[in-house]
Amino acid sequence: MASLSSLMFPLLASLLALLILSNLSPRAVASSSAHLGKDLLAASRAPEFAAWLRGVRRRIHEHPELAFQERRTSELVRAELDAIGVPYVWPVAQTGVVATIGGGGGPVVALRADMDAIPLQELVDWEHKSQESGKMHACGHDAHTTMLLGAAKLLHAKKDHLKGTVKLVFQPAEEGYAGAYHVLGEGVLDDVSAIFGLHVDPNLHVGKVASRPGPLLAGGSRFLATVTGKGGHAASPHHAVDPIITASSAVISIQQLVSREIDPLQAAVVSVTFMKGGDAYNVIPESVSFGGTFRSLTTEGLSYLMKRIREIIKAHATAHRCTATIDFMEERLPPYPATINDEGMYHHAKEVAETLLGQDNVRMAAQIMGSEDFAFYAERFAGSFFFIGARNHTMKERHPLHSPYFVIDEDVLPVGAAFHTAVAMEYLKKHPTASN
Ligand SMILES: *[C@@H]1O[C@H](CO)[C@@H](O)[C@H](O)[C@H]1NC(C)=O
Repeated sequence: MASLSSLMFPLLASLLALLILSNLSPRAVASSSAHLGKDLLAASRAPEFAAWLRGVRRRIHEHPELAFQERRTSELVRAELDAIGVPYVWPVAQTGVVATIGGGGGPVVALRADMDAIPLQELVDWEHKSQESGKMHACGHDAHTTMLLGAAKLLHAKKDHLKGTVKLVFQPAEEGYAGAYHVLGEGVLDDVSAIFGLHVDPNLHVGKVASRPGPLLAGGSRFLATVTGKGGHAASPHHAVDPIITASSAVISIQQLVSREIDPLQAAVVSVTFMKGGDAYNVIPESVSFGGTFRSLTTEGLSYLMKRIREIIKAHATAHRCTATIDFMEERLPPYPATINDEGMYHHAKEVAETLLGQDNVRMAAQIMGSEDFAFYAERFAGSFFFIGARNHTMKERHPLHSPYFVIDEDVLPVGAAFHTAVAMEYLKKHPTASN
């Protein structure tokens, strides 16, 4: 027969255990996340898995395709998704593929990779060099696509444990043609509540990631101006209306926009990158064209620059008896907004990265004036964009993105696949009732 005291003891002990457990519950959650992170990284770095990732990346690297021409890459993505057993919709914005994993209620979180290459001749001599003349994956989109396929495989293996849906966005045309904008226009992401993206960074070592809350990348756009006067003999300028002087003076004036009209503590840039007109020593040409890029870390700043560039060029034309047209090519090349990381989503991905890679390997990124069409997603959903290290100690010279000598350490691939996967899984765990 059990005595009263021996009955009381287990009761007290379990009460005490309950109290301790409820006090420690945040830590308990964190340790299960730590476990998940380590598991994912180990699975992703397993020799067979890492070799598959390298193989995929090399196949994409050998056949780079420009914006909206990613037919072969898209086919490769679909073949790999078929092999894994992940359903998708296609075509999205011509060549894009949007895969879905999980489902059955809960929130929808998106992970995004871009697939296009840039018009550049690869000058790196290696076994898997670009076989397409004048085209190269010099911005790492081959790695981005591969890391997302890696995430597809890891997420598929855990699909019965997902607390919602993950959409994997294999997007065309990041380089200038706003593929993201066109993907959004097709409505396939309308149910998404958060989105995450990665970009390889050739200055950051493998195993490290970096980002920051708020504005990370600039908004950017382009302009093409044509100034028309009246051609004539260079010996009789008074019988002509000189568009070269007009254009020159407009170029100098728009350089004063940043120095005189923008808050010195706000980043902005205007660069005129070409000027064309005339072809003789003794003839004043009829017209001159020039153009370039302008950028700002705020979307309002970008609109302001656009408005003032138009006004200044038009006013100079009038003052010099010329006419001017200014084309921002918005239809073909939509201006990219600034990429603004949502505070909450930045902290979410940062915490996941700290668990996965260790606190010391998660850095605060500097703002840069490059642009990214991830900005379109981040305008629409809570989003965050991270740089992921692709450098190692044996790489002596630093070749930046878009260099014909650009290389990555392929050990970044498993890290990116695991990071994507953990970010999505943890998001779904933390937002059980979220919906758009
Ligand atoms: C570093 O990256 C380069 C370029 O991909 C690669 O050739 C080299 O093997 C890597 N070195 C190490 C130690 O991982």
